Amino acid sequence: MDGKNGHQVPRHVAVIMDGNGRWARARGMPRHAGHRSGVKSVRETVEIAAKRGVSYLTLFAFSSENWRRPADEVSKLMGLFLEALQREVDDLHRNKVRLRFIGAREQLQAELVASIARAEEKTQDNDGLCLIVATAYGGRWDIVEASKSLARKTVAGEISINDIDEDKLANELSLSGIPDPDLLIRTGGERRISNFLLWNLAYAELWFCDCLWPDFREQQFDEALAYYSSRQRRYGYTGDQVA
Ligand code: FPP
Repeated sequence: MDGKNGHQVPRHVAVIMDGNGRWARARGMPRHAGHRSGVKSVRETVEIAAKRGVSYLTLFAFSSENWRRPADEVSKLMGLFLEALQREVDDLHRNKVRLRFIGAREQLQAELVASIARAEEKTQDNDGLCLIVATAYGGRWDIVEASKSLARKTVAGEISINDIDEDKLANELSLSGIPDPDLLIRTGGERRISNFLLWNLAYAELWFCDCLWPDFREQQFDEALAYYSSRQRRYGYTGDQVA
């Protein structure tokens, strides 16, 4: 898709929002203050993504491994998700955003699960930006769940083992029906994927920046988009073939 100035705009952007804790510590504040401030960056990122013509935005809010954090931090984070969801859902709906959540929902508290279900239902027919929030999500968990689903179908005689191919497995993943991310952004200075969308990121362009998530704004997003637009995507072909 062409954006402003003829630049290639990624259809799907995935984001690992890292650095909230360090942002807070640098200010002598508790970690939770960093997460709270990170919600503002989420809001701004959603707005800019929509403005720039991105169709899908997937945010890594809480990983399968984040349950290992101190109970107080986990509980405050869950409270923050609930609060942000309840506060923002009407505004997102007015802006035609379609909300989806991926991850092990059964691990979340009942009030949050109910709120998620209401938000998804309310926004399901919207045709604007599709905002996907990964909560209690892990790429390995996703592949294991997909494999179990294929195994069940095989045992039930709905498919045979030889029917299983990449498309079949992809169809069982959390992002089934959604194009793979074109661009992965990770803030906070680390250069790793941390069990995010392991299958779906196979051909994503990777953009790492040192900026801490609460400082992530339009300028940083645009830098990532400019980087993306400078890349030639080859999917195994040679550069000459693609040109
Ligand atoms: C990683 O930073 C961040 C998280 C585990 C939580 C992300 C959550 C938000 C940005 C809150 C709002 C989200 C939504 C979707 C409303 P870190 O704590 O690992 O930072 P550190 O590496 O500096 O310790």
